[in-house]
Amino acid sequence: MTRGKFITLEGGEGAGKSTQVKNIAAFLRARGVDVVQTREVGGSPTAEEIRDFWLMKGEGYWDAHSELLLIMAARREHLVKTIWPALNRGAWVVSDRFADSSRAYQGVGLGLGVQTVDAVYRVIAPNFEPDLTLLLDLPVKTGLARMASRGGPDDRYQQKDAAFHQKLREAYLLLAKTHAYRFRVIDASASAKAVGDQIEKTVAGYFEL
Ligand code: TMP
Repeated sequence: MTRGKFITLEGGEGAGKSTQVKNIAAFLRARGVDVVQTREVGGSPTAEEIRDFWLMKGEGYWDAHSELLLIMAARREHLVKTIWPALNRGAWVVSDRFADSSRAYQGVGLGLGVQTVDAVYRVIAPNFEPDLTLLLDLPVKTGLARMASRGGPDDRYQQKDAAFHQKLREAYLLLAKTHAYRFRVIDASASAKAVGDQIEKTVAGYFEL
């Protein structure tokens, strides 16, 4: 059995990742691919429990290192219970966020350093990374306006100021450069339909579908 492919979507707030995860899954299924659609933090029963416990606490509740370890524990559960079994049976996995979110949010946003995130990640998942990471990039102003039109922030990170979100955007663009072999940057400021078309073209070209 050929191992499936692992596709991750990354980006800041308001980039439209969840819509596009559904879109990619439908695009692949229409081509006969068995697809598992998932998300982080979460994606397995235990990881979803950790998400609820972690994300809903207020600002200042978590020490940054503790928070990173908690997210990585959820990621390990997600890998062991959902991602690796699916890939091993030949399914493709499309995840709304993965380890690059930790590099951007905890590594750069919270200032722990990307090397610290990488060091912990190597413990939970040595020699494993996505086959393709789509970075949905858009100006911070646009992302925050979209979030406001959806009824405003609903978690601690969404409530952070524009300077924090700008830092995240730059962190992601740098990750895209340093991991250019697996990253593709998508202009997410266009309509959902136009972004979806751009993504489908990228996925089809990348995997020669
Ligand atoms: P979501 O809004 O995409 O569902 O993600 C929930 C929040 O979790 C979002 O603010 C980003 C944050 N997050 C991290 O801080 N680190 C991580 O590793 C992941 C996966 C998410």
